[in-house]
Amino acid sequence: MVSGGGVLTAATPGIGQSYFGKARGDDVEVFTLKNRKGMTARIMTYGATLIALDTPNRAGKLDDIVLGFDSLQGYLNPRDPYFGATVGRVANRIAGGRFTLNGRRYQLATNDGPNHLHGGVRGFDKVVWTGEVVPGTEPAIKFTYVSRDGEEGYPGNCRVAVTYRLTDANELRLDYLATSDRDTPVNLTNHSYFNLAGPEHGDILGHELLINAGRYTPVDATLIPTGEMTPVAGTPMDFLHPTAIGAHIRQVGGNPIGYDHNYVVTDGGKGLTLVARVREPTSGRVMEVWSTEPGVQFYSGNFLDGTLHGKKGVVYRQHGGFTLETQHFPDSVNHANFPSYVLKAGVTYRSTTTLRFSAD
Ligand code: GAL
Repeated sequence: MVSGGGVLTAATPGIGQSYFGKARGDDVEVFTLKNRKGMTARIMTYGATLIALDTPNRAGKLDDIVLGFDSLQGYLNPRDPYFGATVGRVANRIAGGRFTLNGRRYQLATNDGPNHLHGGVRGFDKVVWTGEVVPGTEPAIKFTYVSRDGEEGYPGNCRVAVTYRLTDANELRLDYLATSDRDTPVNLTNHSYFNLAGPEHGDILGHELLINAGRYTPVDATLIPTGEMTPVAGTPMDFLHPTAIGAHIRQVGGNPIGYDHNYVVTDGGKGLTLVARVREPTSGRVMEVWSTEPGVQFYSGNFLDGTLHGKKGVVYRQHGGFTLETQHFPDSVNHANFPSYVLKAGVTYRSTTTLRFSAD
């Protein structure tokens, strides 16, 4: 039986289901989606988390290109850095965990020094969602979760859903929905770490990255935006043309060193727009990120420090994976000049991000 949803039958193309373990007493299931070309995605109900993604290299050989753990235990470790998770109610940081909405002040849980990060102490990445098969010709699973009024300090009962769909064009499409009975900030993203060579093949510094963004939002020492939107052209932040991630990373600075910045997608937020294109030269794998979101957090795995042992026993060292988290800008709830992510009561939040895979 599929929890909370339709019954899985032999007639359901390209979908499998298996038991993964227990999280705080609740069963966690894994759904496997497979398209007609053999590409495979595995998503578990804990955190609606992408735990594996097998895509072909230029020779057609499938490899798992996302970081993660072999067992549920790895994900329950508080040091799991959001590998593959669905992040919310608000992804990224909120300064001091504080904001004012409709004249009322809110204090959220703080879990990143003085700030609120990725939904708080027990964000959407640390709860068990309900998975349901979506009828259709392409394999798809809809995960739902109800976040209660007051959870991590947020106002309103908020119903959220994310549907993962694998198309025969080798795309993984993520469609998000949310509604709330009170106005609340909502900013959902997926936090997968990619290494297009396969995480067992070293760091991501040789990956060639293009980000369709002429500006980024600079941050203070606690990674909170200053409110400026600064042109990237000619600086180490510039990925307007394909550039190796490692080419200028030393000049970016930071402690630990590397990229951990939100980019302002050019003409973003108006429809499905090209956000980024990444190519890994040895495997030939290419990933394009398309999204309806106006921003993307590019994070070069700076905090990975060799202490986490992932799938196949691989040690995850600094810059062993990167994320491209499509989202609204960090701390938008405190910056009137950033696009708002406040969801009005009764209105439906919609967001789509598509990852397109190919090889050359
Ligand atoms: C990223 C964030 C980083 C770090 C990481 C988790 O989304 O930008 O600063 O917190 O998540 O380790």
